[in-house]
Amino acid sequence: MIMLQPNAPLSDLVADAHRRLSETFQVQGAVVAAAPGRVNLIGEHIDYCDGFVLPFAIERYVVFAAKANDSSIARVASEGQETVEIDLTVEQKISEPKWSNYLRGVIQGFKDRGDRIPGFDAYVVSSVPLGAGLSSSAALECAFATLMEGLVDTALRTSEKALLAQKAEHDFAQVPCGIMDQFASAFGQQDKLIYIDCLTNEPEIIPFSDPSLSILVANTCVSHDLSDGAYAKRRKATEDALKIIGKQNWREVTMDDVLEKEDEMGDPMFRRARHVVSEIQRTQEAAEGFKKNDFSKIGHLMAASHESLRDDFEVSCHELDLMVEIATKIGFEGGVLGARMTGGGFGGSTVTLCRTDDASQIAETLHQQYLEKTGITPAIFATRPARGAHLV
Ligand code: GLA
Repeated sequence: MIMLQPNAPLSDLVADAHRRLSETFQVQGAVVAAAPGRVNLIGEHIDYCDGFVLPFAIERYVVFAAKANDSSIARVASEGQETVEIDLTVEQKISEPKWSNYLRGVIQGFKDRGDRIPGFDAYVVSSVPLGAGLSSSAALECAFATLMEGLVDTALRTSEKALLAQKAEHDFAQVPCGIMDQFASAFGQQDKLIYIDCLTNEPEIIPFSDPSLSILVANTCVSHDLSDGAYAKRRKATEDALKIIGKQNWREVTMDDVLEKEDEMGDPMFRRARHVVSEIQRTQEAAEGFKKNDFSKIGHLMAASHESLRDDFEVSCHELDLMVEIATKIGFEGGVLGARMTGGGFGGSTVTLCRTDDASQIAETLHQQYLEKTGITPAIFATRPARGAHLV
């Protein structure tokens, strides 16, 4: 009857990476780096609109073990993936296999800083599910950037590392993402939420350590691909809307400004703009709610955020709506404090804030009813805010 998936301890992943490195390349690992995925509690699709976001790093990690190899070539292996060989002496370009581009982007970032990366052999393992809206790519970029710090023997400021990882995603994975995922993966702290002001790139730490509260992540197991253009299209619509509104940034925009330009914007641009302004407001209120333990308020804000993403921003899907609906029906009496989709959308995961005593029962209900209605087995796990990218 166990419906909650366990989180592998980081030490197990580290041991696994060491073992596989030595099996694959016959060397013992000297440098080990880890970085987590993230979930976002609220503030969706507004990190690229000067908004606020409230994510935290999860107990799911990408781990690299590596050893310098006296050459100018990086060889990176991973289970089920083609081993990547990268010439570190040349300017990096987008290339095959696809997953190597995250590595190439980060390498180029260090080269642009003037760092000389020595040749190395590496093995990467991960417990961050792919395509689940939990930022497996940011975890990969941040873990690899941390590995580069170890190999080069340098230390970047945390925000510099996150921005370097974001640039890799922009230039090499060609997803025009905001800063949320890389910031959450880089700045994550145990038992802390990361409240990020995306206008100033300043993270503020909000404690989340009450053991009577839990967070469930429910992966609908419906996959999305943010590079298919839908994400870029949403971002473009917000940029066009801001031009029509005529303000410098979204923080200066009020709902009256949006309503005033409704006709000029037309549909769906007007609804995209309405989401941005309302979500910025909700996220600020939710951050206050977390500081004051006002869970009834947080629950309402999470519900409104989901509705806005579903109806105005149109990045939800049937499976996400269903998972949120099941959680919402369980309700406060059943221990659910709030639920919504999390991450980029078009599939992926939901986040449910709940009482710890009820977490197993809630997970079971989500699992059974979702399976019954869709025929798809979801993957549900509980997580607490975890430590961000670090050398192990
Ligand atoms: C993806 C992007 C983030 C953010 C979210 C939506 O995860 O990488 O920058 O825009 O979608 O909130």
